[in-house]
Amino acid sequence: MPIKNRFAELLPEITAWRRDFHENPELLYEVHRTAGKVSELLREFGCDEVVEGVGRTGVVGVIKGRTDTKGRVVGLRADMDALPIEEQTGVEYASKTPGTMHACGHDGHTAMLLGAAKYLAETRNFDGTAVVIFQPAEEGGAGGLAMVEDGLVDRWKIDEFYGMHNMPGMPVGHFAIKPGPMMAAADQFEITVTGKGGHAAKPHECIDTTLTAAQIIVAVQSVVSRNIDPLKNAVISVCVVSTDSTAHNVIPQVVKLKGTARSLDAQVRDQLQEGITRVATNIAAAMGATAQVDYERGYPVTMNDDRATEWAIDVAAGISGEVNTAMEPMMGGEDFSYMLNERPGAYIWVGNGDTAMVHHPAYNFNDEAIPAGSSWYAGMVEARMPAA
Ligand code: NI
Repeated sequence: MPIKNRFAELLPEITAWRRDFHENPELLYEVHRTAGKVSELLREFGCDEVVEGVGRTGVVGVIKGRTDTKGRVVGLRADMDALPIEEQTGVEYASKTPGTMHACGHDGHTAMLLGAAKYLAETRNFDGTAVVIFQPAEEGGAGGLAMVEDGLVDRWKIDEFYGMHNMPGMPVGHFAIKPGPMMAAADQFEITVTGKGGHAAKPHECIDTTLTAAQIIVAVQSVVSRNIDPLKNAVISVCVVSTDSTAHNVIPQVVKLKGTARSLDAQVRDQLQEGITRVATNIAAAMGATAQVDYERGYPVTMNDDRATEWAIDVAAGISGEVNTAMEPMMGGEDFSYMLNERPGAYIWVGNGDTAMVHHPAYNFNDEAIPAGSSWYAGMVEARMPAA
C-alpha cells in the first residue's frame, strides 16, 4: 500500500495524539508530560531503543531497518514545546493550561513524527537505521543545541537530518522548500550610551546621550546599505529606545537601544556584529560619550544542503505533486539549524491551509496536513535507505 494510504488509515489515531498534546501544552524544557507520552508510544511501537533525557528533556527513538548493509543512519526531527500565549481558538481540545498554548503547531510536528515512527517500526522496509528525534525548547531555549551538545550526532552516528514546519497560508498538505538558507540567523543587540546628564538648558555642560543615540540609530543603517554586499540579505532594526529620565528638561545620563540583526549567511552575520559595534562605539566617541555594545548571537542560519534538498523535493513531489521551490527564505529563526550545522540535511514547510499565522492566539495546527507530513518523514527514510 502506498505510504500515504497507510497514513490516511492512521489519521484518527495520530489526530488523537495531536489533540492530546494540544490540550496539554508545555513550555521550553518543561515538556515532561509530552516527552513521557512520546517515549511511551515509541516503546509501544516496538522501537529498538528509546532514550529520554537527551538535551535535558529530549527523546530519541531508534528503528532498525530489515537490513543494514551500509551502516547508514537518517535522523528525523520534530519539536515538542508550546508558547506563552492565551489560546483563543475555541476548539473543544483547547489548552487546559492558562497562558500556554501550542500556537506554532509543534503538537502537530510531534504527532506527525510519531505517526512516521509507528509506520517505520511496523514496516521496516529500509536498509539502515532511522532515528526519530523529539526536541524540547525550540521557542528560544536552543533545545536543538542542547541535544547536539548532549552527543546526539555521535551517539547515534547520524549521517543526515530532516525536519519540517507547518506553514499557514500554503495549501494544506503541500510542500515548499529551497536549497541554501531557509531561515535567518537571529541575533539581538543592546547598546548602552553613557554621557553626562544635566539641565537641558545647559547642553554645553553635558554630554548629550539622546543626540548620540539618535546618531547611532541612523548610522547603524549604513552597515546594511554600505558594508553588506547588495546581493546579500541583512536586516538591522533598532526597536527600543529607553533612558533613565522621564523629564522634558533633563539630558539623561544613560540611553539604551535594543534591536535585532538578521542575516542569511555566516559572513554577513560577522559583518553585522562588527559593523554595529564599530559604528556605535565610534559615533559615541565622536560625541564625547561612550557606547557599550552587547551583541548576543541567537539561532544560526537554517541552511539546506543542495543534494538533501533535491531528495526532499523528490519525496514531497511523490506525496502531493508539485512542490513550491520558489519561496523566499524567512527572516525568523529556527533551532533545527544546530543539527544542520553538524550534518547535511533539509528543512521543509508543509502547508497548514488558510489559518491564522503561527504565534497568533487563534492559530491551530491543521490535522488534514498529517498524512502528507507523516508520509514525508517516513518517505525520507525509505528514499535515502532503499530496502536492500
Ligand atoms: Ni515553530
